[in-house]
Amino acid sequence: LPRIVVLASGNGSNFEAIVKAQREGKLRAEILMLVVNKECFAIERAKRLGISYKKLSKDWKGELFALLEELSPDLVVLAGFMKILPPNIVNKWKIVNIHPSLLPAFKGKDAIKQAYEYGVKVTGITIHYVDEGVDTGPIIFQHAINIDGMSFEEVEEEIHKIEHKYYPIIIDKILND
Ligand code: GAR
Repeated sequence: LPRIVVLASGNGSNFEAIVKAQREGKLRAEILMLVVNKECFAIERAKRLGISYKKLSKDWKGELFALLEELSPDLVVLAGFMKILPPNIVNKWKIVNIHPSLLPAFKGKDAIKQAYEYGVKVTGITIHYVDEGVDTGPIIFQHAINIDGMSFEEVEEEIHKIEHKYYPIIIDKILND
C-alpha cells in the first residue's frame, strides 16, 4: 500500500475526510501520521481517529525534513498547511496541496473570502503539485461551482463539501493509477 503523511495547521476537516475515505476503502493508502506546525483542532481529530501525530516546534523546517526522511512517504499531502515549505523538502518528496479557489486566481490566505469579496460568480477548488512558490505548481484537478446569489457562509460550506469529496479521490488516483 502506498504511504502518505498529512500536514495541517488548522481545523483539519480535510485530514478527517482523508482518514474517513481511507477507512471506507475509497482511498487505498496507509496514513502514517498527521504533522502540524502548531496547536490546532486537527490534533483533536487525530486523537479521536486514532492516527498518530507530531507537532513541530519553532525550528520546524529541519524537524520536518528529518521526520520525512524517517517515514519516507510516497506522497506528502498538504491539508490546510499554512507554511511555505523550503526547497530541500519540495525537491525531495512528491507533495500535493488543495487550495479553495480556481488557481491562479486568489492565491494565499482566505481565498474563499477573497473570491467572494471580488464578486466572482464562479469559484471552486484546485488540487496541485507543490513547487517552491505559494499556491503554484502543476494543476492536477479543478472543480468549479456557481455561487451567484449565495451568501458567504453558503459558499464556504459548498467549497468545503467539494474539497472533502474530491481530495481523497484525487489522492487515490495519484497513488494508485
Ligand atoms: C481548506 O479550505 C484548504 O483548501 C485551505 O485551508 C483550508 C483548511 O481547512 N488551504 C489553503 O488555503 C492553502 N493555501 P481544514 O483545516 O478544515 O482542512
